Amino acid sequence: MSEYIFPKGFWWGSATSATQTEGAADIDGKGENIWDHWYRNEPNRFFNQIGPNDTSQFYKGYKDDICLMKKLGHNSFRLSISWSRLIPAGTGRVNEKAVDFYNHILDELIAVGIEPFVNLYHFDMPLAMQNIGGWENREVVEAFEKYATTCFDLFGEKISKWFTQNEPIVPVEAGYLYDMHYPNVVDFKRAIQVGYHSILASAKVIKAFKEGGYTGKIGIILNVTPSYPRSEHPADKQAGRIADLFFNRSFLDPSVKGSFPQEMIQILRDMDSLPYTERLDKEIISKYTVDILGINYYQPRRVKAKEYMPHPDAPFMPEHFFDYYDMPGRKMNPYRGWEIYEKGIYDILINIKSNYGNIECFISENGMGVENEERFKNEEGIIQDDYRIDFFKGHLKWVHEAINEGVNVKGYQVWTFMDNWSWMNAYKNRYGLVSVDLEKDAERKVKKSGWWFKALGENNGFSENE
Ligand code: BG6
Repeated sequence: MSEYIFPKGFWWGSATSATQTEGAADIDGKGENIWDHWYRNEPNRFFNQIGPNDTSQFYKGYKDDICLMKKLGHNSFRLSISWSRLIPAGTGRVNEKAVDFYNHILDELIAVGIEPFVNLYHFDMPLAMQNIGGWENREVVEAFEKYATTCFDLFGEKISKWFTQNEPIVPVEAGYLYDMHYPNVVDFKRAIQVGYHSILASAKVIKAFKEGGYTGKIGIILNVTPSYPRSEHPADKQAGRIADLFFNRSFLDPSVKGSFPQEMIQILRDMDSLPYTERLDKEIISKYTVDILGINYYQPRRVKAKEYMPHPDAPFMPEHFFDYYDMPGRKMNPYRGWEIYEKGIYDILINIKSNYGNIECFISENGMGVENEERFKNEEGIIQDDYRIDFFKGHLKWVHEAINEGVNVKGYQVWTFMDNWSWMNAYKNRYGLVSVDLEKDAERKVKKSGWWFKALGENNGFSENE
């Protein structure tokens, strides 16, 4: 029987974001963010028309939720602060009720012995900031820096791990290329500006953190999905390299190494899409890199050389350089439509060790979203989600192997503690260790995976047939 025991002090826990769990989107002085606004205007874009006000009600139930987290083996938990709850207009007045709310959460976590990891931005641009252009506008970069400093001042004593952003490439892709987030723009050049300003914002926040003498570490959370080419053919390999440039290295290189890949700059130059920059930006980005890297991993990216040339007049997309590849026989999570490839997590970690100075890192999200889990309930009404336990085990084995090979990986946080609101998918795919019954006032019930996770945390590992 194989046993997988992790280093002493390994971080076990889960991650979530404000908009996806808090609910209470329009009370106690919270300002509107892009999700509130988009839902109000186009509710039909959201699965079953469930919006950000109807998320898991963490705002109300955080005390019990934190108690349950403790019971389920957590020693760490990542949450995000809602910018528009704390500073309703994105800049200016601070909402005292939000200060109280986040202080209560942090105090509660600390009291039960769960270390809070706090992220400052998880896809939730305040509407007032979006109305002046969102990340396209440098004023928003400045406002973000002020908001971050406000958070450091207000909560800094309680937090030793800060994160500037979660998956900053997602608002770029989803909001400015593929029409999945507000403002639903399809424009490569604008997407590049948004991405550039997000990176600059992260570096400026790190600068403010370091210069302000705050204690603790500051990092970023990235989805660094590796690209796997269909074959060893040079055209397939080139497709993989370019996909990697766009979707991984664009954020990973500046965040960890302080510079952009030359090849990427050349492509942008060729496409006449280099972003607007200012004189001191380069120095700030190169000097203020992250202390710690959170890695979100769900699925690999399989690519191949292009089958057909894109329409010459169609809007330019990164997919101009490669096609996605449906590898025959790949293992799928059919609900989310994502491939399950456990070794991918190891490949990422080895890449971080070999090419990114073995920076301190941790798995900051990994999980499996499944539709209609009710059908897996046993007689006691507990969801028997063995598939999720297998998913976690399969990935953890590879994390364990990476540790054996010297990767500086310090923890594993799943997505997510309780079922939450997945943006446009709302409550379609459920990810939680704990189910949330929307029909019964968001009643929580621990799933089988939740009890398995408890044992995982308590034993600091698992054995094959547990
Ligand atoms: C990550 C995000 O990309 O994946 C989360 O950080 C998100 O916000 C999670 O919910 C799962 O993806 P999805 O699209 O199924 O919600």
